[in-house]
Amino acid sequence: MTQQILLVSLCILFLQKWLFENTLVYKQYDQVKDIIKQMNTLTTTNFFNNRDYYTSKRLYRFDLSKSQIYLNDSYCNQSDTFKFYHPDVVLKDIHTTRDTDDLTQEIVQSISFIKITNYTEGKIRNKSVLPEALTIPFNYYDSYLTKTTTGLSAMCLFQKHNHMRGRQQLAYKNELLNNYYLYVDKLKTMPEFCSTNVTYIPKSYRLWLKDECSAFFEFINTTEYQQKFQKQGPQFISKLGLEVHRGAGITMLFQKETQQLIKEYQNGQNCGLNSKYIIAQKYINNPYLFKGHKIEFRIYFIIASTYPLIAYAYDSSLIRRCATPFDKFSLEKSSHVCNTAIVKTKIEGQDLDEDKQFFIEWKLDYLQELLLKQKKIKNKKWLEDYLYPKIHTTIQHLIMSTQHFFDKDSKLSEFFGVDFMLTDDLQIYVLEVNSNPQLLKTIPERIVQNTKLVKDIVEIQVAYLRSKYVRLRSLITSSLQSKSNPQKFEKDFNEAYKDKLEPEFPISSNNLFRKIIDKNLKDSKAYNDLIQTKCII
Ligand SMILES: *[C@@H]1O[C@H](CO)[C@@H](O)[C@H](O)[C@H]1NC(C)=O
Ligand SMILES: *[C@@H]1O[C@H](CO)[C@@H](O)[C@H](O)[C@H]1NC(C)=O
Ligand SMILES: *[C@@H]1O[C@H](CO)[C@@H](O)[C@H](O)[C@H]1NC(C)=O
Ligand SMILES: *[C@@H]1O[C@H](CO)[C@@H](O)[C@H](O)[C@H]1NC(C)=O
Ligand SMILES: *[C@@H]1O[C@H](CO)[C@@H](O)[C@H](O)[C@H]1NC(C)=O
Ligand SMILES: *[C@@H]1O[C@H](CO)[C@@H](O)[C@H](O)[C@H]1NC(C)=O
Repeated sequence: MTQQILLVSLCILFLQKWLFENTLVYKQYDQVKDIIKQMNTLTTTNFFNNRDYYTSKRLYRFDLSKSQIYLNDSYCNQSDTFKFYHPDVVLKDIHTTRDTDDLTQEIVQSISFIKITNYTEGKIRNKSVLPEALTIPFNYYDSYLTKTTTGLSAMCLFQKHNHMRGRQQLAYKNELLNNYYLYVDKLKTMPEFCSTNVTYIPKSYRLWLKDECSAFFEFINTTEYQQKFQKQGPQFISKLGLEVHRGAGITMLFQKETQQLIKEYQNGQNCGLNSKYIIAQKYINNPYLFKGHKIEFRIYFIIASTYPLIAYAYDSSLIRRCATPFDKFSLEKSSHVCNTAIVKTKIEGQDLDEDKQFFIEWKLDYLQELLLKQKKIKNKKWLEDYLYPKIHTTIQHLIMSTQHFFDKDSKLSEFFGVDFMLTDDLQIYVLEVNSNPQLLKTIPERIVQNTKLVKDIVEIQVAYLRSKYVRLRSLITSSLQSKSNPQKFEKDFNEAYKDKLEPEFPISSNNLFRKIIDKNLKDSKAYNDLIQTKCII
């Protein structure tokens, strides 16, 4: 009997809960909308708010040539309320868009996709608006950051974006170097061992800075330099800063090129006058060789959130080799710089064959096998014990050196690819960092790998968004039951808005991304114990 009573009261309890969630919440539609509006207001007062930086336009072109989107400041209000009442839109589906016609668009289209109709100049009176269901935009351009109004016309509560400000601090070579040297200086004020792993950029001279520029031209005027040049071949490469990638803007400083540079800077007399972002960087002339060719590998990583900072690095890597066999005295640029763009000029119009020819592997395991075979290493777990930790800690330092530029916000994220070279003594150097790396579909293997890559990124975006959605949703429902004071509401909101995976949304075990930074964790645990607590800034 008591059991039955218990059962009945339990049933009543559940019924009440169900009734509350399904009727009351509907009756309180206006309150729900109001709470959501308050939350969106909090995101713009406490977090990323682009209104301070950009003038918003009521209309923008998605990719400068295609659909025009009409923005409406009621959008977030509507979209978030819609998602509140349709949890499946967030918890079961993936609604994404892609602004460019590329492989990534094909891939996200296959997952779940909203096509934004291409209405052009007044032909049709209907206007393109952002779809209410949009949760995970995966755009090439960052128009959301620059042209919309956060929390009103886009970048709403229940959305995760794939761009953030500050990515140029990594992707522009001049900024990367500035940040690196500032970071190196900062580490000098800390225990000595903190600097141990911060050697991933070869000695560089920033020619736009008078002192470094003079030092460079003085050095190349010394006999020491002349002798080294005779004995070992080119000692420096020059690189252009800003958004120049894939081998463009890189010059090997052979005799002729060095003379040109000396002339341009009047043997150093023009230092301080020439403000071009030219970097003179020590040329690493002991590369590890694959069948006589220099190789480089690209590691993808994502900053999954900046509130708190969370980053993942990909376990798979694109390994490519240079077009021409390596010889330190070779006057062929393509013997020293293995970049797709450079390779392309070498074999005109043969993009496809070229890619097949210079693409070596998709997995670093291949490199390990090779090194084992060549007896350069003995440890069969070299990748796990040595190379991955080395790569991961380098990416951690790259992020540490630039993190102060990132807006703190869980709706922001970014996708990067960093190119490394491996030396004969198995050290690694960062060649460049790309934001928004291009995903090619030149060969079938590449399509398969890139599809997996994009799906893995989206899975992570989705898992964090769903976790946040569940937390915010429960905060909304509890606020409906008992109104808390504004301070408590704000405090609870700030906590719920913080990105963190809830146990019900784990990342699948076959996802090839590995977490390398998670500031939800304390001290060195936040960096997988690769960076010691005393060295964290
Ligand atoms: C959109 O329309 C313009 C003009 O008709 C056309 O040039 C463009 O290719 C279209 N874009 C897409 C994605 O269909
Ligand atoms: C914005 O959207 C709302 C709701 O759909 C609509 O009533 C309003 O007219 C729109 N405003 C503009 C300027 O298009
Ligand atoms: C958003 O919803 C709230 C609550 O219904 C309403 O007061 C407010 O005017 C709406 N804001 C916009 C920009 O539509
Ligand atoms: C324009 O919008 C109306 C109403 O939403 C719709 O019925 C019609 O099919 C749309 N026209 C085009 C060309 O999409
Ligand atoms: C280069 O070296 C020569 C001889 O050592 C010296 O006379 C000259 O001033 C130097 N030039 C510069 C720019 O340092
Ligand atoms: C240097 O990097 C290695 C991984 O390559 C890591 O195990 C070690 O703790 C790092 N040392 C310091 C002082 O950060």
